[in-house]
Amino acid sequence: MNKTSIIARAKDVTRRYKLGEEIVWALNGISMDIYEGEYLSIMGPSGSGKSTFFNMIGALDIPTTGTIEFMGADLFALPEEKQAWIRCNKIGYIFQTFNLVMVMTALENVALPMILQGATLERAHERAAEVLKQVGLGHRITHLPGQLSGGQRQRVAIARALVNAPAVILADEPTGNLDTKIGAEIIELLKRLQTEHKVTVITATHDAKMLDISDRIAWIRDGKLERLEERANVTINMGSMH
Ligand SMILES: Nc1ncnc2c1ncn2[C@@H]1O[C@H](COP(=O)(O)OP(=O)(O)O)[C@@H](O)[C@H]1O
Ligand SMILES: [Mg+2]
Repeated sequence: MNKTSIIARAKDVTRRYKLGEEIVWALNGISMDIYEGEYLSIMGPSGSGKSTFFNMIGALDIPTTGTIEFMGADLFALPEEKQAWIRCNKIGYIFQTFNLVMVMTALENVALPMILQGATLERAHERAAEVLKQVGLGHRITHLPGQLSGGQRQRVAIARALVNAPAVILADEPTGNLDTKIGAEIIELLKRLQTEHKVTVITATHDAKMLDISDRIAWIRDGKLERLEERANVTINMGSMH
């Protein structure tokens, strides 16, 4: 973690949702600096605002008030094409439910973000095969998602997130649909990507195993940042998380 270099900064971010007559403040004024190259875990009970916060950092949703700076730029002040470029080239997204295209092979799923960026099929497939090998799936590249286990599907999703060599990986409960052992392997893989590829990893999680490998942990509750701690100082009280 390079504490002098800030890759993303949230300033007084709020997000209001309207559900019929009801107004929900999913985020209630969150400010946070995220350092280049760190592994940051965002912990909090279900409904605390983790996914909403992720969507802001990942330029998938706009704050009601407040700003997000990404690599020094005011993200939502940028023209839409530039935001789209950042989504495609600087951020890799990993979701709990993998979000793979079921009729495409592992190789085609991973190649897709490159093809959308205008790469040739040949170049995209070459790079996709390389990244699938990096995540331990070199022997499964022609399989469809339906022919893969949950853990293998998540590896495909991780390879897809990596294919355009992003600066940041956003993983929203990446182990939420996996059993403990497979979840641990996915966590190890994310950690390895952070250390070997110097990518910044931000995960939202309920999984205590994530805490062991994180550089910092942000605790969110009711749309507010409750605490932000370095790993060495963390006292884990999982009882309060549920
Ligand atoms: N599209 C939406 N419309 C209305 N309310 C929403 C929407 N998305 C999330 N919320 C509400 O915002 C709060 C935070 O949700 P979320 O960010 O998904 O939490 P988490 O990821 O921590 O479980 C919850 O109260 C949730 O019900
Ligand atoms: Mg969520």
